[in-house]
Amino acid sequence: MSLRQKTQDLKRRMQEALQGGGSQAIEKQKQTGKMTARERIITLLDPKSFHEYDLFVEHAGKDFDMDKKYLPGDGVITGTGTLGGYPVCIYAQDFTVAGGSLGYMHAKKITKIMDHAMKLKVPLIGINDSGGARIQEGVNSLAGYGEIFYRNTQASGVIPQISVILGPCAGGAVYSPALTDFVFVVDKISKMFITGPEVIKTVLGEEISMEELGGARVNCEISGNAHFFAESEQQCFEQIKQLITFIPWNNDKKADPFPKRPPKSRSFKVDNIMPSDPKSPYDVRSIIRALVDDSEFLEVQELFAQNIVIGFARISGESVGFVANQPMVLAGVLDVDSSDKAARFIRFCDAFNIPLVTLVDLPGYLPGVDQEHAGVIRHGAKVLYAYSEATVPKMTVILRKAYGGGYIAMCSSHLRADFVFAWPTAEIAVMGPEGAANIIFRNEIKAAENPEDVRKQKIKEYKKKFANPYVAAAYGYIDAVIEPAETRHFLIHALEISKQKTVRRPAKKHGIPPF
Ligand code: HXC
Repeated sequence: MSLRQKTQDLKRRMQEALQGGGSQAIEKQKQTGKMTARERIITLLDPKSFHEYDLFVEHAGKDFDMDKKYLPGDGVITGTGTLGGYPVCIYAQDFTVAGGSLGYMHAKKITKIMDHAMKLKVPLIGINDSGGARIQEGVNSLAGYGEIFYRNTQASGVIPQISVILGPCAGGAVYSPALTDFVFVVDKISKMFITGPEVIKTVLGEEISMEELGGARVNCEISGNAHFFAESEQQCFEQIKQLITFIPWNNDKKADPFPKRPPKSRSFKVDNIMPSDPKSPYDVRSIIRALVDDSEFLEVQELFAQNIVIGFARISGESVGFVANQPMVLAGVLDVDSSDKAARFIRFCDAFNIPLVTLVDLPGYLPGVDQEHAGVIRHGAKVLYAYSEATVPKMTVILRKAYGGGYIAMCSSHLRADFVFAWPTAEIAVMGPEGAANIIFRNEIKAAENPEDVRKQKIKEYKKKFANPYVAAAYGYIDAVIEPAETRHFLIHALEISKQKTVRRPAKKHGIPPF
């Protein structure tokens, strides 16, 4: 064959492979509002940046007549490209080919691109749309998943790993995402479960729809498996593009700095946000926006455990991670879910050199039988562990209440915050005035002629003594009591002078966090 003929032959082969599961399967995919796998990659990445590899890989299945079947690209597309100028490795499972199920060669393509990502030290993006382990390939499919999980774990904390769920994902197709840093889902399109409704019906006799079992909303609001919720695939891709700007390519780098910008609008003045009644709630996100460049805040897990707010922003051009109690929800308490949410985020920021800013306003850990039985002790301990272990610059601002375990857990100086600032509204004590007065003055209140008057008097006394930042300041537990309007200024300075921070940890293989 001449070069021209060989080139024609290549084009024909490519054309065949690029068909995916064929027009009928593609039509079915489109009817459910989904893009095809290749469309997804091209839409997400920078124009013309995608370079595909392993297009001609073929499946290795032999049983159940699989040897007679042609599965283009073995149901997964892999390659490299750029996203907002950042280099990335990417794969997208093609549901039109055998339901995106994972056979031996399918897994090999994924593990190869994962190895590339690790070698090149660039983020990995996985678009998952798969029925899980390819049943016909038996243990080889399971082996494939095992190889992926192992690599997810090795890559954890070295390169950012982003998972996008864009279809019904079952079994192994959800465990790999669970090992990655951020999971994106789209309403009505994404489904995540270990065992689907059919299996549940067979084993337990319970009937439930796919959406109720593992729809996008369920995974964002209830299980907390997913971190970002979008209405459409396009919106989901915009969220990924935004996230990538806040994080570095790998753990040797810092996120790219941006031009410094002031917060956006005067209405975001920090002083105007907190109500004068210390019991009134407010939205802590307004305070975050008042403090950060352009008032831009990318909230992570917005729908889950809303009593804590986590997310990325920039201060003076530098990417920072915020962890803030949300007084609007359950008074901002720490509980099982909010502890998990915060601890994981703290560890991500620490692994990827993103300084942490903690805003404190909470009455403590949530009391109750449910919480105790759900393990609030070991879940709550995750926050203590994550903050204590984090060595990135840590800045804490106590806005209002910092009671009991909550005071310690929310990055106090005792867990090695580098700077702790307190607003004059801060109340740092073992517990709130009402509870405290009832306990320590119980006998006096009981013996009084008018117990209610005495109770009120004692609460007043306690408030005067402890419901302020000055006792903690007198012991040096906080570094400065500051005017709210000065907060951004203090944070900018703290970040600036913490740039060279280095911490040596005791030699060990690794710690044992309260997983
Ligand atoms: C082989 C599969 C497949 C699988 C789907 N297909 N899942 N083929 N192995 N796991 C094929 C179907 O046979 C069908 O092929 C095509 O993909 C499209 O699937 P449909 O069922 O028509 O699509 P839909 O109605 O949208 O349902 C999607 C689905 C369902 C919910 C994912 O297919 C399903 O329940 N699949 C099985 C899920 C599962 O139990 N997977 C194993 C998990 S165990 P044709 O030729 O008809 O078009 C696992 C082990 C790892 O993953 C665990 C690690 C810890």
